[in-house]
Amino acid sequence: MWFFLDTANLDEIRTAHSWGILDGVTTNPTLVAKEGREHRAQIEEICSIVQGPVSVETTTADAEGMIREGIEFATWAPNVVVKVPITPDGLRGLRGLRERGIPVNVTLVFSLPQALLAAKAGATFVSPFVGRLDDAGNDGMQVVRDICAAFRTYRFETKVLAASLRHPIHVVEGARAGADVATMPFKVMEQLFKHPLTDVGLERFLADARRLQAELQARRARV
Ligand code: G3P
Repeated sequence: MWFFLDTANLDEIRTAHSWGILDGVTTNPTLVAKEGREHRAQIEEICSIVQGPVSVETTTADAEGMIREGIEFATWAPNVVVKVPITPDGLRGLRGLRERGIPVNVTLVFSLPQALLAAKAGATFVSPFVGRLDDAGNDGMQVVRDICAAFRTYRFETKVLAASLRHPIHVVEGARAGADVATMPFKVMEQLFKHPLTDVGLERFLADARRLQAELQARRARV
């Protein structure tokens, strides 16, 4: 399972990269706007830190605009993946970009039929939004399970990218469903480390190591 960060924040990306577990990054216009910097400069810097796929979202509703933007994004770095929404224009945009060899992540997916459309059109990634479905009173993870099962049945090569993850259980359930990628906020990635028994165990090991060192020092002082 690949772990992506869902952020445009450079400090978060550098930190997760230093842990050796960061496989890619997903951004969207909201996340880029938060950083208050020019879009291209921000994405180029992200791509200089992360070698894996970095999703960059188009900001137009028509296919021609998406293709135009996507072609430009692809010149920013070799690992750029263009994000388009699951609309008729989005699929036309996807087709135009795929014809030019540019990988596409189809976003704002909330159902299995939408995911099937994206896979049939040749998406590299499809992004079901788990948290937003949960917010609307649906079972977001069930949609991920359904997509993974259908893609396995029909051997689609499109990768399932579980998005809009809000807590570690979403990551756990995504792994159980067989999602290829989990993209998560930095806070959720940090939470994956946490277990009270790790904290207690580490505290005890460090205390025992300190005690032994003190004992040895005292013994050496006596001889
Ligand atoms: O990757 C999609 C993600 O950015 C949406 O997350 O938390 O805004 O629903 P959220």
